Amino acid sequence: MQNHSIDEIIQIIDFGAQYTQLIARRVRECHVYCEIISYRTPAEEIAKRHPKGIILSGGPNSVYDPNAPQADMGIYELGIPILGICYGQQLMSLQLGGKVVPAEKREYGSALLTVIQPYPLYADMPSKLKCWMSHGDNVLEPPPGFEVLAKTDFTPVASMADHTHKFYGVQFHPEVAHTPFGKELMRKFAVNVCGCHQLWTPESFVQESIASIKSQVGDSRVVCGVSGGVDSCTVAALVHAAIGDQLTCIFVDHGLLRMGEAEQVRKDFAEAFGIKLIFVDASERFLAKLRNVTDPEKKRKIIGEEFVRIFEETADNISDAEFLAQGTLYPDVIESGTETAATIKTHHNVGGLPKDMRLKVIEPLRYLFKDETRAVAKELGLPEEIVWRHPFPGPGLAIRIMGEVTAERLNVLRQADDIFISEIRAAGLYSEIWQAYAALAPNLRSVGVMGDERTYACPVILRAVTSEDAMTAHWSRLPYELLEKVSNRIVNEVKGVNRVVYDISSKPPSTIEWE
Ligand code: XMP
Repeated sequence: MQNHSIDEIIQIIDFGAQYTQLIARRVRECHVYCEIISYRTPAEEIAKRHPKGIILSGGPNSVYDPNAPQADMGIYELGIPILGICYGQQLMSLQLGGKVVPAEKREYGSALLTVIQPYPLYADMPSKLKCWMSHGDNVLEPPPGFEVLAKTDFTPVASMADHTHKFYGVQFHPEVAHTPFGKELMRKFAVNVCGCHQLWTPESFVQESIASIKSQVGDSRVVCGVSGGVDSCTVAALVHAAIGDQLTCIFVDHGLLRMGEAEQVRKDFAEAFGIKLIFVDASERFLAKLRNVTDPEKKRKIIGEEFVRIFEETADNISDAEFLAQGTLYPDVIESGTETAATIKTHHNVGGLPKDMRLKVIEPLRYLFKDETRAVAKELGLPEEIVWRHPFPGPGLAIRIMGEVTAERLNVLRQADDIFISEIRAAGLYSEIWQAYAALAPNLRSVGVMGDERTYACPVILRAVTSEDAMTAHWSRLPYELLEKVSNRIVNEVKGVNRVVYDISSKPPSTIEWE
């Protein structure tokens, strides 16, 4: 997809930092489009995209590690401004002839930055600034042609610049919230140094996506799977705005949905859009495929494949259907395994796609983060209920049952989940929470007592998290009274459950879903 607002691009070379996506988010928040690329990308490839700027990310390695990732030296010859962050600054120093040494003491946490030379990154800022450090190596001497812009007590070269070539480095992390001026620093780099015009807005995204979907699809027809979540509904609305009746939406009830969800989606969808919707009840088929399957990755692959097969079968009856539109987001793309990011989970809509798929995939939201998708959804006029709906994974309740998925277990889980979510809504907390759900550990049994009877049954796990984009998440500090009420109701109302636990793990090190 070629959009004008993405003609002005900043490329972020990823050296495997946990924070690389945060860098991308901060740049996007400045209304500048950016992409994360592998450190192996050759300079010629980078040059072909004509980026306005390059950012070298942090990374877990020391620049002296035998396998330390390197940037192609050719990037320094492209005449493009470069900002190195943490490992990025150290690598830039080393590659351009500076001196990097292991720090006497690993610096981790808050530090006070003293600005020596404000231009251009610290212009109009105070001379003392709070920043966040996390590094083992230090630049001892910047490369020839560089001057020191800032220092801290432990880091003599906390920031540096070669004004002639527009190369900059920061040892701290401007992308994290603990560096309060960090976003402004990134804006100064993107706008003042690289000359970006801040064109990346929901309006421009919508207009340009519509134009590019039109030209890509031509007279063909598109099928779009909708789940009722904000991502797929936004895709459907966007594609509909582009090609109208050439779009047919398909809603597959895989039998792994929450209580009343299938009916709700049909109703919301019909009310919100008036787009043609084919409803497929495939619950039996999915359950049969999932019989005896306990491995989470297998579940995801089976569900991903089955989804596409059903789309294809349905699309076979729509003449000229050539494309499948999907609501894949940028974090799904990255988390499903880039060069540097390990595969944590195969997201059903990315790694789960069968290799021999007939339909061509279009993914208009492939480069968006969740908050950007919500902004686009609002721009398209989707109802608030859809815009703010909690995310729900494609594989649905299958990855919330730790073990084999059966109709009986689904039934137990649905009831528990429904109690939890309705109580959260009743407490007025729904929109403060990124995502909340119940999970079932059917193979874990514990002893309880109900009435005068001993019980030996399985627990329900409650999970609620706050997050900005699902890349990191904190467990929600739900009021005890709410948890108590939910626990009482679940144990009393849901047969087969005698215990309720609340998950107090954050991401990382845990993930939001249990599987
Ligand atoms: P994790 O568990 O990886 O989840 O921390 C991050 C976010 O992604 C959702 N999720 C998925 N969404 N297909 C999806 O469409 C999937 O296979 C999938 N797995 C996880 C999860 O609900 C959370 O919002």
